[in-house]
Amino acid sequence: MPTQSPSPHLPFGENKNAAWYGKDIISVKQFSRADLEYVFGVAHEMRGMVERVGTFDLLKGKILANLFYEPSTRTSSSFTAAMERLGGSVIPINEVKYSSVSKGESLPDTIRTLECYADVIVLRHPETGSAAIAAKAARKPVINAGDGVGEHPTQALLDTFTIFEELGAGQVDGMTVTMLGDLKYGRTVHSLARLLSLFKVRLNYVSPDILKMPKEVMDEVAEKGIPQAEFSKLEDVLPESDVLYVTRVQKERFEDPADYEKVKNSFVVDTEIMKTAKKEMIVMHPLPRVTEISMDFDDDPRAAYFRQMEYGLYVRMALLAMVLGKA
Ligand code: NCD
Repeated sequence: MPTQSPSPHLPFGENKNAAWYGKDIISVKQFSRADLEYVFGVAHEMRGMVERVGTFDLLKGKILANLFYEPSTRTSSSFTAAMERLGGSVIPINEVKYSSVSKGESLPDTIRTLECYADVIVLRHPETGSAAIAAKAARKPVINAGDGVGEHPTQALLDTFTIFEELGAGQVDGMTVTMLGDLKYGRTVHSLARLLSLFKVRLNYVSPDILKMPKEVMDEVAEKGIPQAEFSKLEDVLPESDVLYVTRVQKERFEDPADYEKVKNSFVVDTEIMKTAKKEMIVMHPLPRVTEISMDFDDDPRAAYFRQMEYGLYVRMALLAMVLGKA
């Protein structure tokens, strides 16, 4: 007897012809607007399934290797939760000091090892370009969960899904998005600026002088015809912003700790400054936050950063199902 599918759009059979089957997810540059609509459609269905049945067997028998060479709370646990909600299981490697990496094993060798045991590998690594190196070594799909100051594509996808869900998909064209904080080392904003350039948005960058958005990212965004402007004061752009995307100053990436001390408290979003913002807008943050958003703002309905984490679960479920040929 054929097993019944949990949803007509989430078939049990592996579809080797599906567009994302077996693909790596390394950069947001791989996604078109049509791809986003597809990912978000699947994420939407995942949300419905989690709400209705909690856990289901779409990826039963599949194994994810979750390989983290840098600290993580949300990305690591949401990929684990995503795999388990889909009925699959996880090999967690968070403490690389207890793995053969501490014996000097290279990244390609570690990847080749893990793919003997797992069907998909999620990788976070301190070096830019490491996810591409891993993907080259692997036969199984590799998902980039942050490569140094490079990219964090699954975060940018969940950030864009958050904007769609909170403000309406039809509202994205014409929106003003302001990115605040450490735009130099923050990989989430590097990916998000690139991904949002698929839409007719206006991008504002507010940062200390030494933490500006890299020229390479700005050039790519400019090529898409997206207006971008840099500011040093949030006050100058907050009233016009539909999305305020706040980031942490990335302490661990500074060469000179004295530089970090100079800029660590440059911006604080609090209830007072938010009086000048629109009523219909959202404040986002990839988290963890340090001091850049005051906790007294958390109860404001515009504070979307906790809801943003939940959207991440559904997007990561969608991505895992896609690369494993089940969506
Ligand atoms: C971000 C990261 O690791 O780049 N966190 C996350 O994945 N949610 C942001 C950060 O560490 O500041």
